[in-house]
Amino acid sequence: MNYPTEVTDAVELIWGEGMLSPGGPEKVAEMLEDIDLSGGRVLDIGSGLGGVDVLLATKHCAAAVIGIDVEPHLIKSARDLAARKGLAGRVIFKLVAPGRLPFADASFDLVFSKDAMLHIADKPALYVEVLRVLKPGGWFIAADWLWSEGAAESGIVHEWLAESQSLSKFAFTTPAAALQALINAGFAELMITDLRHKLQEANRKEVALLEGPTLQKLAAIVGTEIAEGCLFNAKGRQAALDSGDLIPCHLRGRRPF
Ligand SMILES: C[S@@+](CC[C@H](N)C(=O)[O-])C[C@H]1O[C@@H](n2cnc3c(N)ncnc32)[C@H](O)[C@@H]1O
Repeated sequence: MNYPTEVTDAVELIWGEGMLSPGGPEKVAEMLEDIDLSGGRVLDIGSGLGGVDVLLATKHCAAAVIGIDVEPHLIKSARDLAARKGLAGRVIFKLVAPGRLPFADASFDLVFSKDAMLHIADKPALYVEVLRVLKPGGWFIAADWLWSEGAAESGIVHEWLAESQSLSKFAFTTPAAALQALINAGFAELMITDLRHKLQEANRKEVALLEGPTLQKLAAIVGTEIAEGCLFNAKGRQAALDSGDLIPCHLRGRRPF
């Protein structure tokens, strides 16, 4: 299990209700800039605790949202959140196995994914699947953590991820490889936006928060080890952002009409 409850409780306290990644509603809005989701059907890959899916249905007016994830306890938490928000039925969650997406061709107006693709090793195969389930003219929009050429050998990256053994859990790719895989899958109107400078600033604030009194508050709720793990992770992420090894990006592509 990559996201045990102690960890999800901790990051939810830092990043907000239902969120397993940084940025919150502003980040989701930024990803969806210029996209009108009203009445649309959305697939969210790696839905986690379901906070993003609630936003897609409420703030962004999607008619139906299906979140998929590989961890049963996250699916349960996401369903509970949707029910608490009065969205059960309109925002639904499905447990999946990695691989083929269990949906018919041309099922969705938007395939969305926030900070989940780094868990998926075979991205070329995933992009082909995403294109298949999109309706003609539908958009694929994802936030993904990419890395630079040579980052696999970077001491900074190893120091950050060695302790949590996350190097084997994460499947980073480079922006050039992501772009080529999206082209090969058949996407049009492609755009890969490098957000490193933006994320450097945002992450610096997170480090400062965790270095202050928040750490003690967090430790009182989730325990000292998990709280200090959050600080270690935020600092490691900062070092990898500052060195240029880590390149957070927005990916956009459209299924041709
Ligand atoms: C960092 S969390 C992000 C969750 C959510 N998108 C958010 O922003 O709050 C990554 C999520 O991807 C899920 N995940 C990992 N591999 C997956 C796969 N092959 N298919 C679908 N979800 C996956 C994890 O279980 C986890 O919930």
